[in-house]
Amino acid sequence: MSIGYVNGEFIPVDKPVIPIDERGHQFGDGVYEVIRVYHGKPFMLEEHVQRLFKSAIAIKLNVEQSHEDIQQLIDESIEKSGLADCDVYIQITRGISPRQHLFPDAPVSITLTVKPMRVTEEAIRENGKTAIFHEDERWANCYIKSLNLLPNILAKQNAQDVGGYEAILVKDGFVTEGSSSNVYMVRDQTIYTTPLSKQILPGITRMAVKNIADMLEIPFIEKKFTPDELLQADEVFITSTTNEVMPIAYVDGNKINDGASGEITRLLYRKFFELIEIVQHT
Ligand SMILES: Cc1ncc(COP(=O)(O)O)c(C=O)c1O
Repeated sequence: MSIGYVNGEFIPVDKPVIPIDERGHQFGDGVYEVIRVYHGKPFMLEEHVQRLFKSAIAIKLNVEQSHEDIQQLIDESIEKSGLADCDVYIQITRGISPRQHLFPDAPVSITLTVKPMRVTEEAIRENGKTAIFHEDERWANCYIKSLNLLPNILAKQNAQDVGGYEAILVKDGFVTEGSSSNVYMVRDQTIYTTPLSKQILPGITRMAVKNIADMLEIPFIEKKFTPDELLQADEVFITSTTNEVMPIAYVDGNKINDGASGEITRLLYRKFFELIEIVQHT
């Protein structure tokens, strides 16, 4: 059963509970994480919690709770939901205080939801999804997983409006990442992805895929590339917690190679699911 949590209390997810002066609501003044749960166990939980705290520190959010407190809260929430395969969203905001820009003297708000996993059908993963190129209109600190997602939302909606699934963001002539994913191209059996910098989110799935590529001895090169280079790639794929490893078959109506999941992408997602089976059962 889906459940919610707000500042110490477990609640039904559809219960209206956010006070009008909650800063996440008023300003998007907070950070968040998305964690996927396979077989009742959150995948790469420590990495997600570490990134959550890094994001909090980057926006000067003073979280009294420890990493262990947050991990325990997530574990407890999953257990309470009774769901084995689910997605956890956790948000930490600068709390509840009458609206003004300056930091309030208030405890942070912690909210969380646990909902059934949105599973991708195998056929979709085999055939790949479509994407568009879109100007990266975001701010200078995209390494922070901030609740301010307006440019990401607009880009994703623009993709959907022309029948696409993801918007591949382009800044100063180079691909940065997707509106809610990291982006890769494969050329001559080599994986290329944008180097980590303040301009992109250091994806946890990216970390897993890099480890898998290293294990398989597939070169994983962190180097900027242009939209034209991406269009000429042998394969294109995206990664995120909820998309896992997802092939992209078309970009702006251009077929990538033969327009289906390529050999390396397929290998990566097979290994990704194998890894999940191994780590979730240990
Ligand atoms: C902008 C952006 N980049 C990359 C990612 C992928 O990150 P992760 O693999 O940690 O889910 C996300 C995930 O939501 C995202 O929103």
